[in-house]
Amino acid sequence: MNERPNLNQAGFGNLAPAPKGLLARGDTSGRIRVVGRSVSVFYGEKQALIDVNIDILDKSVTAFIGPSGCGKSTFLRCLNRMNDFIDAARVTGSVEIDGVNIYDPEIDPVQLRARVGMVFQKPNPFPKSIYDNVAYGPRIHGLARTKSDMDEIVITSLEKAGLYKEVKDRILEAGTGLSGGQQQRLCIARAIAVNPEVILMDEPCSALDPIATARIEELIDELRQNFCIVIVTHSMQQAARVSQRTAFFHLGTLVEEGETSEIFTNPRQSRTQDYITGRFG
Ligand SMILES: Nc1ncnc2c1ncn2[C@@H]1O[C@H](COP(=O)(O)OP(=O)(O)O)[C@@H](O)[C@H]1O
Ligand SMILES: [Mg+2]
Repeated sequence: MNERPNLNQAGFGNLAPAPKGLLARGDTSGRIRVVGRSVSVFYGEKQALIDVNIDILDKSVTAFIGPSGCGKSTFLRCLNRMNDFIDAARVTGSVEIDGVNIYDPEIDPVQLRARVGMVFQKPNPFPKSIYDNVAYGPRIHGLARTKSDMDEIVITSLEKAGLYKEVKDRILEAGTGLSGGQQQRLCIARAIAVNPEVILMDEPCSALDPIATARIEELIDELRQNFCIVIVTHSMQQAARVSQRTAFFHLGTLVEEGETSEIFTNPRQSRTQDYITGRFG
């Protein structure tokens, strides 16, 4: 992993080939899992997201790219109703997951957020042991009947997050004592522990060094076998490395969405072309 250059520093338009081990591009055979229709978001009077329409495929990684402030995080939060927590925010339109509108009054947002997990920019483990960080969600949702059921969930989740081997001898120690990259993998294990279908990641590597970043990118590539993953990234190189689909946002609109290779080599919109060639940022 050490020989891997820090591609975040590479110039725009200078996209690296997929690192060894990552699957081929263009494998987008998954079915549609998330459907956004005419999604707009207002913060008070100000409209931050304008009429977004998108189909997001299962078992693949979709990257949201675009300049700062263009609405990437705002739209990501629409997908698990995190905007509910922002008093000024008002969402219109619909988001369906497996055909169910998540804004339907019948939907319990707490259950929803177990199905649609989120990983944030800054790793945010709870001030609890590694074990209890992962067990937290399953406990709340009553997923384990016995201690050994819970042990199983915790171990499996840590394994899926590629962390188990590193922490198995200190699983009762504080999660906050881990390195930044390990903490982020712990947060991924915590999200996985409640059996989500969709995992949202908002710039999950931007607080990490290049080696920890590479580790998370490899993990994302493994996880996509089983999950629908949406990642916001300010790094086009990262989008090119980890995603199969890319959505380019600009000034609150979704300019275009398509296969990552197409978006980066042959975009349909001139605004996308301008952005990926570094003409504005
Ligand atoms: N909690 C908030 N209250 C008011 N305005 C917000 C809030 N969050 C984001 N915005 C505004 O919405 C726009 C989109 O922001 P955001 O979704 O964070 O963009 P991005 O993630 O692409 O950088 C920006 O103009 C930002 O200032
Ligand atoms: Mg953001």
